[in-house]
Amino acid sequence: MKSELEIYYSRRASEYEKIYKKPERQADLESLKRLAKDFLQNKSVLEIACGTGYWTEIISSTTHSIVAIDSSKEVLDIARFKSYNKKNVKFINDDALSLSKIKIEFDSAFCGFWLSHLKKKNLEPFIVNLQKKLKEDSVVVMIDNNYVEGSSTVVNRTDKEGNTYQLRKLEDGSEYELLKNFYSEVELKNIFRNYSVNFEIFNFKYYWMIKYSI
Ligand SMILES: C[S@@+](CC[C@H](N)C(=O)[O-])C[C@H]1O[C@@H](n2cnc3c(N)ncnc32)[C@H](O)[C@@H]1O
Repeated sequence: MKSELEIYYSRRASEYEKIYKKPERQADLESLKRLAKDFLQNKSVLEIACGTGYWTEIISSTTHSIVAIDSSKEVLDIARFKSYNKKNVKFINDDALSLSKIKIEFDSAFCGFWLSHLKKKNLEPFIVNLQKKLKEDSVVVMIDNNYVEGSSTVVNRTDKEGNTYQLRKLEDGSEYELLKNFYSEVELKNIFRNYSVNFEIFNFKYYWMIKYSI
């Protein structure tokens, strides 16, 4: 059965990339794009929860190859329709938590705006399973949102485990409650402490990026 998150993103597929047009976020986005292309240059990348392929398209200009997975057919249909100049991208419909269709053949992983949608109790199982799919010394790059008053959707509630939720509306008026956690630098360092070496954080106003080796 599809989760609320999967249903929401499937229905949001056609309007998803509007989020990347917010004027106040453009400078940060340019920096993230430059860093992501640089860190993943010539890498064989496993991309988690690729959505409509916004980041896939960007990083594919420098990577050796990408296998990008998402559990939503609707977003993958959009991602597959994009043009990838180096023809180095393959999309697979798979679950990010199980990665059941993924073999170990990667020297890097990229996750865009995925960590924030995981329940806190699922962070470690996700990281451990992801890293099982990566070769020794692989590089992991993740990007996600910082909470910025006036730009981010307000946090609606916090559950007993400390996960935070937002009410999100689509253009057709339908409303969804979505898990969205925001992390400080200290929290990020703690989450990855046992799973990373050379852990680095690049903190911008609207986004954070982490890069580490396994
Ligand atoms: C915030 S979007 C990120 C999309 C893309 N990475 C980006 O940064 O533009 C989250 C994505 O997670 C996908 N998703 C939700 N649950 C998933 C799951 N269990 N396994 C794989 N993908 C999932 C959604 O379909 C959606 O495309």
